Amino acid sequence: MDEKKVIELEGVSIYHSGESLRNSHRGELVLSEVNLSVGGGELVYLIGKVGSGKSTLLKTLYGEVPLKTGKGRIVGFDLRRLRRSRIPYLRRKIGIVFQDHQLLTDRDVFRNLHYVMKATGWRDETLIRRRIAEVLELVGLHNKEYKMPFELSGGEQQRLAIARAVVNSPAVILADEPTGNLDPAAADEIMRLFATIVAGGCSIVMSTHNINVVEDYPARTLLFSQGRIEEIDVAALG
Ligand SMILES: Nc1ncnc2c1ncn2[C@@H]1O[C@H](COP(=O)(O)OP(=O)(O)OP(=O)(O)O)[C@@H](O)[C@H]1O
Ligand SMILES: [Mg+2]
Repeated sequence: MDEKKVIELEGVSIYHSGESLRNSHRGELVLSEVNLSVGGGELVYLIGKVGSGKSTLLKTLYGEVPLKTGKGRIVGFDLRRLRRSRIPYLRRKIGIVFQDHQLLTDRDVFRNLHYVMKATGWRDETLIRRRIAEVLELVGLHNKEYKMPFELSGGEQQRLAIARAVVNSPAVILADEPTGNLDPAAADEIMRLFATIVAGGCSIVMSTHNINVVEDYPARTLLFSQGRIEEIDVAALG
């Protein structure tokens, strides 16, 4: 496998655990024959109908759904050999943006970032403050440090979630419908922010149902359909 790629999947099939399923020892097959290779600084869209497996693929990439067939690597981690105890180390090297933000609702913007940094090994308070100022500047929340999450708009909450994802300068961001609940203007701000992040060399893999986003910010697009993934040319779809 090519070491320069940040993500490589070869001949991968993905199953849901199927603990509740009687007839299958592996679980329910969600995706098969997946081959995917993502280089540095690439933006990749995952599109497809509800239930087509976009979130499942992202979960496999961040170690929540185990990879049992095929080969898979992300930022140097072998997904086939990923032990539970190693998952926190993987999560330090990638940024994850969930559609529902998963912010800590009991503390302000600064403390949301501070908490994550302490949990991922940052010790020096001066460096922590400096990095928080940097990422808040990047996402346009520099004057909102002491706001609680409930005092932020949906778009601002999502930008805080992105700030948290980039705080450790990951090589890859995995984002599940990052513009999901946003109006077109707020979605546009998120995409401009993503364009800046990608220009800085970080790769972003994001699922979306927002076809306007895909059309306005053209990038590699993978269509999930009937358990397979195929790369498509959005411009050619008209
Ligand atoms: N924890 C789970 N256990 C078993 N099956 C699951 C689990 N989560 C999802 N599935 C199934 O896996 C398939 C793919 O779901 P997934 O959430 O990946 O779709 P999606 O493309 O992200 O859909 P959406 O656009 O609605 O977010 C669906 O058939 C779903 O029912
Ligand atoms: Mg999903």
